[in-house]
Amino acid sequence: MPAALTLTIHTLGMDAHRAMADQVRLGLTRSPKELPCRYFYDDRGSALFEQITELPEYYLTRAETEILEARSDELATITRPQVIVELGAGACTKTRLLIGSAHRAGSLRCFVPFDIGEGVLRSSVSEISSEFRDLDVHGIVGDFASHLDAIPRLGRQLVMFLGSTIGNFEVAERRRFLASVRALLSEDDFFLLGVDLVKDERELVAAYADEQGVTAEFNRNLLNVLNRELDADFDVGSFEHVALWNAAASRMEMHLRANGGQRVRVPGAGLLAPLEVSFEDRETVRTEISVKFTRGIVERSFADAGLDLRAWFTDSGQRFALALATAIPLRHHALDLAERDQLDVPNREDLEVPAGDHVREPAAGDAELARGFPKSQGLHVDVNTSSLH
Ligand SMILES: C[S@@+](CC[C@H](N)C(=O)[O-])C[C@H]1O[C@@H](n2cnc3c(N)ncnc32)[C@H](O)[C@@H]1O
Repeated sequence: MPAALTLTIHTLGMDAHRAMADQVRLGLTRSPKELPCRYFYDDRGSALFEQITELPEYYLTRAETEILEARSDELATITRPQVIVELGAGACTKTRLLIGSAHRAGSLRCFVPFDIGEGVLRSSVSEISSEFRDLDVHGIVGDFASHLDAIPRLGRQLVMFLGSTIGNFEVAERRRFLASVRALLSEDDFFLLGVDLVKDERELVAAYADEQGVTAEFNRNLLNVLNRELDADFDVGSFEHVALWNAAASRMEMHLRANGGQRVRVPGAGLLAPLEVSFEDRETVRTEISVKFTRGIVERSFADAGLDLRAWFTDSGQRFALALATAIPLRHHALDLAERDQLDVPNREDLEVPAGDHVREPAAGDAELARGFPKSQGLHVDVNTSSLH
């Protein structure tokens, strides 16, 4: 059976450029300075990230892969997905394990990778479809913040968000993101989330400051992106990579530190005149956060978004976890929240969580929910350049 290969591109055209300019202006004029991490992922940034995943210090990918190698068949049996949706899919390297299991189990028909990086998504779509020839592959280039509702519903879903990318969100952003994921789910769908766990500070810092300097290169590449996209004149070599553990916020942070005072012009981020920014000697700009989780924090974030943690899988070193959730029916979720507000219940993360995995029996009813795109044949590239907002 020939597979359908569709790449839907959601771009905001000039608005995307405007959004970047606005975010960069806001970030560089605030104190302390910060830049949005989403702009790391141009083609070079995506390639550097793939190199990072293979570094000896970067345990995250190996630990998550270990869990997937051990649990993919079990996950495929529990979730029986007809469709795997992967958010922030990148190169889809680990995803292949789950795709393989669900494919062998006979349930899987379609894979929907979603990512802001068009180059990386195009190659993932083409690689996955040549590896799994009878699978429909429907790639979507879009932004978590604006385009999750563009994801078609093509059958019973397993929505995945791997690589601890959720750690890059501030608390409010994480809440909004999880609520949008909840909105994607029907009652027989599942959500699988990869999270990095709190651990020894030295191990954490080493993972973000490797000896070969690939993470430093990845971090500095953000300035290359701003030079290219916003016509900025950052002297990239004058900024040093810094990785530090912020215990109070339970997160790793990446910064770029100015070596000597710097004056930078960013014409593309100016309003009436080009934006001019000064850096004191050793002043930093924060470029990424990576929150480290406990099971309690994940369970509470899920509950707030109307998601129920059903299973928790960790690697042998307890460094990384995969959390499997289902949607709490909307009526129950509203009652839960009202009851918690009335009783002033303590944070779930302060309560003891029962040990062991608890997984619900597979839901009865295999009804196919027909919303979204018809199954197409052959190669189809659907480019949607209209503004969505
Ligand atoms: C840390 S990488 C993880 C990649 C892959 N899932 C893995 O586990 O190796 C984060 C991915 O999310 C994508 N991404 C970052 N910000 C995004 C956004 N706002 N909307 C959509 N994708 C985004 C990046 O392009 C990148 O592929």
